[in-house]
Amino acid sequence: MMEILVINGPNINMLGIREPGIYGKNTYADLLALLEQTAIEEAIKIRQFQSNHEGAIVDEIQAAYGKYDGIVINPAAYTHTSVAILDALKSVSIPAVEVHISDVDSREAFRQISYAGMACEKTIKGQGLEGYRQAILYLKEKYGK
Ligand code: DQA
Repeated sequence: MMEILVINGPNINMLGIREPGIYGKNTYADLLALLEQTAIEEAIKIRQFQSNHEGAIVDEIQAAYGKYDGIVINPAAYTHTSVAILDALKSVSIPAVEVHISDVDSREAFRQISYAGMACEKTIKGQGLEGYRQAILYLKEKYGK
């Protein structure tokens, strides 16, 4: 069975509370439910991990080496700052898709660069929580077994 690791960075656990005008009213619990539902529908295994700490995300990516068929990652604010997360993704060479809930392209200039995205095959932005499902479906279609 295909196994996908979903990683969320800082403040994603605050979904539904944080800036609902930008990130929507759906909560983090709703996101977890969507991932569980997608796993059932697609007959795949999904592990989800959220951390507010850059190093913990690097540790999780390293621990995924040889264990997962794909990674879906929303590094949140670390998207725009973290060379460490970029290097970790490159280190394990697991196919990865970057997700952003909001449309980062139409936001502040400092959100226009994505380091993690340089190690990802695809980026899905501005689709809300649905973007995670799209990322999972992309990986399943390309690497599913
Ligand atoms: C985000 C966009 C980032 O710029 C921001 O720092 C986040 C969330 C998104 O999902 O739209 O925390 O990654």
